[in-house]
Order: sequence, then structure tokens, then C-alpha cells
Amino acid sequence: MKTDFLNTIGMSRDEIERLLESALRFKRGNDHSKPLTGKSVALVFFNPSLRTRASMQVGIYELGGNAVMLEPGGTSWTLEHREGAVMDSDKTEHVAEFVRVLERYCAAIGVRTFAALKNWEEERTDPVLKEFARYASVPIINLESAMHHPCQSLADMLTIREKLGAGRKRVVLTWAWHPKPLPMAVPNSFALAAAQMGHDVVIAHPADYELDQELLNTSRQLADKQGGSLEITHDIEAAFSGAEVIYAKSWGGKEFYGNTEQETITRAKYRRKWIVDEEKMARTNDAIFMHCLPVRRNVIVTDEVMDSPNSVVIDEAENRLHVQKAIMAELLGA
Ligand code: CP
Repeated sequence: MKTDFLNTIGMSRDEIERLLESALRFKRGNDHSKPLTGKSVALVFFNPSLRTRASMQVGIYELGGNAVMLEPGGTSWTLEHREGAVMDSDKTEHVAEFVRVLERYCAAIGVRTFAALKNWEEERTDPVLKEFARYASVPIINLESAMHHPCQSLADMLTIREKLGAGRKRVVLTWAWHPKPLPMAVPNSFALAAAQMGHDVVIAHPADYELDQELLNTSRQLADKQGGSLEITHDIEAAFSGAEVIYAKSWGGKEFYGNTEQETITRAKYRRKWIVDEEKMARTNDAIFMHCLPVRRNVIVTDEVMDSPNSVVIDEAENRLHVQKAIMAELLGA
């Protein structure tokens, strides 16, 4: 049976630890295996990317394989994913054919498909990614969907391990103001993976910006199981106190999906208070600063924090490469 890499929900702590160990072997030059020799991997990007695209292409090359880049609506046809759709509008090809043709050429398919932030109940189910997984008989790798960014979150866990060592840490995921609402994939996956690793996870956000309740419940259960904890607060100063990791990310509130005007008014109230600056970082336990990038300087985080020795964002981005090589080696190795 094929195995997809869609999120980390079903992964055990041991499975995550094994992937991180494998990533470290690639990073340290202790693994020169080429499990993708003679294989191609399709990388399907509905949305822009720097890190994911470049690190996947380089990773596939370094594992001996070939990357096939596709941008639906750009370098390939516009794509419909809804079952039973009458395709008399702007969509030219259905995922049903797209996937089944691609898998005749490729050993796996990576997909980036962001949330449109229009319909929460629908988008929280990751509808586009799910359709890729449904039609494919080769592994589907999530390169950031509406709800999850597991390649990012495992790179984040590796970065925390490298910078602070193994063991339980006080890890703070803090919301930030941004000029436009953003998807929840990164905060969801970060909170989940940090819980799976047994950290004490604190999620700080304004009252109107709750993450998905089901995902929070799952994360809390997993944190408890690993001896960690999960706490939610609307008090940013209290959250920063004693933190060992500050992970900043903006996301749009689920109640505002499809209501951009109201969301913009609500979000504006929080601009000044929710930036990561030196004053807030001074409350922490010499915390490292993390962000998945791209980041808007002096909006999410000040230049002073971004350029401080505690900022690990470039190492974090590098770790995407090593983690994704570990994931592909696991999915496609002999
Ligand atoms: N963090 C991340 O996924 O970066 P890109 O959007 O540039 O791929």
C-alpha cells in the first residue's frame, strides 16, 4: 500500500525521531545514499514558494532523482478538484486525470495548495490535497496545504533539537499582525509537532484568532501523552515570560473566512501589540527566534530581533532540505 505524507497527526514520536535522525545524517554528510536514482518526483505548486520549491528540487537532485515542476494555471492547465464538477468555466483539467497521468511518469507527487480563506468548514478538510491523495497510487507529499505544512514543522523540530538539545522546552507560538489574512497551515503543524515532541506548548493570540478546535484537542492529547502540555493565552507578555522558543506566525481567524472586510477591521487593532520586539524578547529565557519565512520585517518582527544572534531563521530554512530528503528517502527508498 502507498504511504502519503500529508500531516504528522498519525505519526508516532519514534517515527518523528527516526526522520529527524535521518535528516541529521544527511545534514552531517553521513548519508550519501541515492534512493531516487532513476526516479522522478512531480512538484505541483498552485502558490508561490522560495524555500519549499528550491529545497525540494535540490533534495531530489541530491538523492539522485529528477524534479518535474508544474504550476497549474501557469506551466500546466488550470485544475478542477471537485467531484462531479461541470467544467464549463475556467478549469481545463480534472485532478482525476492530472494525477493518474503524472504517476505514469513520477514515483511521487508533492503538492502546494494554500487555503483560499473563503469557506472555513470546507477548507479545514484540506479538500484539494485530499483529492490528490484519493486518485494517486504513488505517495503524495504535502508541501503546504490549507491546514498543514508538515515539512516545515519537522524542520522546525530539528532546529529546536539542534539549538537547544533534546528534551522538553517552553515553546511559544505567537500570532502576529500582517497586512492580509494568512492560512493556518504553519501554526497548526508547528503546534501539533511541538506537542508530539513533548514540549510545553503555549499558543498566544488575540481572542478572535483561535486555531482549529479539533486540531487543538488532538495536540493537547498528544502533548499530555509525551509528558508535555498545551496552553492557550491571549496575554502576549505572559506568554513570552520564560520562553525558550519564540515562533512567530500570522494567521487569519476562522470566523472571518469569506469576510475579509470585517477581518481587516478586527486585525488592525492588534498591530502594535503583537509584533515581536526586543522588549518582549527580554522577558524570555534567552529564547531562540523562529519563523518559517518569508517574514515581513518590522511588521511581524523587528529588524533588531531578526538580526540578533538568537534568530535562527536561516538555519531553520536550511533544515527544510535535510528533513525533506529524509521524508523522500523514507517514502521512496528501497
Ligand atoms: N516556509 C516556506 O514554506 O517557505 P516558502 O513559502 O518560500 O516555500
